[in-house]
Amino acid sequence: MTVQIDHALEEIRRFRPSPEFAAQAIADERLYDAASADRLGFWADQARDLLTWQKPFTEVLDWSNPPFARWFADGELNVAVNCLDRHVEAGLGDRVAIYWEGEPGDSRAITYAELTEEVKRAANALTDLGIRTGDRVAIYLPMIPEAVVSMLAVARIGAIHSVVFGGFSADSLASRIDDAEASLVITADGGYRKGRVFPLKPVVDEALAKAEGGTVKNVLVVKRGENDIAWNEGRDLWWHDTVTTASPEHEAQAFDAENPLFILYTSGTTGKPKGILHTSGGYLTQVAFTHKNVFDLHPERDVYWCTADVGWITGHSYVVYGPLANGATQVLYEGTPDTPHPGRWWELVEKYGVTILYTAPTAIRSFMKLGRSVVHNFNLRSLRLLGSVGEPINPEAWIWYRHVIGGGSIPVVDTWWQTETGAIMISALPGITDLKPGSAQVPVPGISVDILADDGTPVEGEDGGLLVITEPWPSMLRGIWGDPERFRETYWEKFGDKYFAGDGARRDEDGDIWLLGRVDDVMNVSGHRLSTAEIESSLVAHEITAEAAVVGASDETTGQAVVAFVILKERHAHDLDPSDASEELRRHVAMQIGAIARPRQVFIVNELPKTRSGKIMRRLLRDLAEGRQVGDTTTLADTAIMDIISAQVR
Ligand code: WTA
Repeated sequence: MTVQIDHALEEIRRFRPSPEFAAQAIADERLYDAASADRLGFWADQARDLLTWQKPFTEVLDWSNPPFARWFADGELNVAVNCLDRHVEAGLGDRVAIYWEGEPGDSRAITYAELTEEVKRAANALTDLGIRTGDRVAIYLPMIPEAVVSMLAVARIGAIHSVVFGGFSADSLASRIDDAEASLVITADGGYRKGRVFPLKPVVDEALAKAEGGTVKNVLVVKRGENDIAWNEGRDLWWHDTVTTASPEHEAQAFDAENPLFILYTSGTTGKPKGILHTSGGYLTQVAFTHKNVFDLHPERDVYWCTADVGWITGHSYVVYGPLANGATQVLYEGTPDTPHPGRWWELVEKYGVTILYTAPTAIRSFMKLGRSVVHNFNLRSLRLLGSVGEPINPEAWIWYRHVIGGGSIPVVDTWWQTETGAIMISALPGITDLKPGSAQVPVPGISVDILADDGTPVEGEDGGLLVITEPWPSMLRGIWGDPERFRETYWEKFGDKYFAGDGARRDEDGDIWLLGRVDDVMNVSGHRLSTAEIESSLVAHEITAEAAVVGASDETTGQAVVAFVILKERHAHDLDPSDASEELRRHVAMQIGAIARPRQVFIVNELPKTRSGKIMRRLLRDLAEGRQVGDTTTLADTAIMDIISAQVR
């Protein structure tokens, strides 16, 4: 296990919540007391307090068939009604749900009443297109309000959405459509990114040509980019002809708490992404609970902004379901942070009076590089709470975030969780916890974690071990779509009844948890999960490649970066210039998987370091990629090989 942040070990600063913040904070110590006195009773209370059930549940947790949990299973609710209608019925229809800002500067303020009406129309349109409870709908959209509307409309009719991040390639989209056997794709002609329209519909067309299942019957297209697109008569439908004209009356049906809500694909240790399955009642309970308590949400006065794309779990839980279940007002921004100018985010914080900001360390580090002048052009005094997610935040970035963005005195909460956990699992509570830069700190009330050695014995102290979750939690994944065996193997085989998260962690003398990065072959680039195996198989799929090895090397801005070592096929090794080959392979990976997977570097080499049994020793390649002295090579079949590779890399 590599400790990514060396300085974290020496970090000793502590920040107590200010008395003013603590006095108004939503969460207090009683949450921890209640959860430790009666964990299941605590979650049942949260589920009743935070959500509206059409049929109240009597069972809390059914763990009779581990690892398949059922929460609140005899209760019934409608997720969309919980996010929309009930707020309107409570007289909050005029509250702004979404301040949407397009990258070119167009904007819309959408109230809860308007959002509810639009979701009802979309629900009717989907039903008219033949979508029924349990059907899968793929969503491939930019960050526009229709993305939120689509997700909620699918939820409203008890169908299952599979949102695919708009940066993924046609191949990635096709394999996700096939795996889920989606019958509808919702997309846009294009969206704005970095000052240009990037086309989405052509990617969908290409994906559907590649998808082998032939399950997709219709493609619903939002007009956004106004770019020219091909039209498949009979299959393709415009949103403005189909949804906008549908009836705004829709009686929502109640569904079982365990009705599937969504599938979200994430990278694992093998080449094939896993379709993480989440269900309704438990998921919504924990996202609403954490959104309210970790972000100290006062929905009547806060303006919340989570910068994640809805294509990732953070967007699902903390752009769509958590904030809307809690009746929050939030900002949704279409574009990139630096378009049309480097201070765009801070301009938006000022424009909308954002009070709570939730973003990733990578973003913070790139603003650090630009320097404070970019930030200081804007008035950020509305901010009162900052959150971080996706990767370990180094203390320097934490302090910079608190001081330069937060003005020096507001809480920063570092939240650890995963696509699989559905909601925040480890975080400070801002009115209670003394904050420690670099540590995610403590499990949220009702969550039990431990740190174990490889053999399952608990470990304390500096060295750290493997993070496990010891008790089932409401928003836990219910499985991997279509692959129960892989679900068992990946998360439950190692420690029996404890969930193995794949992260290394250590606990300090105060009991605070420090995350140490992944312990498997999953990389974390800009807070996004990428699989070494997936990128390796993409590289090997190129006709010039003979062999490839990929490592995640630490990177000042993106946390980790993808670095590949490739051996070319004999006949190309001579006629191709290495830098052309390397460029071609970088382009190829971006095309095959998506731009986020594009390697920072591809080194063309003649050899890869292998053990006698033929296993590639990535640890040594990582040493090279990070510019370190290469470690112990004695287990290599040929110990001289690292010298040859080092010489080629330099
Ligand atoms: C990492 C994102 C340290 C971790 C919500 C985890 C973090 C993976 C943190 C999940 C954090 C997420 N500190 N590491 N605060 N948050 N991670 O599924 O390695 O995209 O396993 O979910 O990101 O990534 P995912």
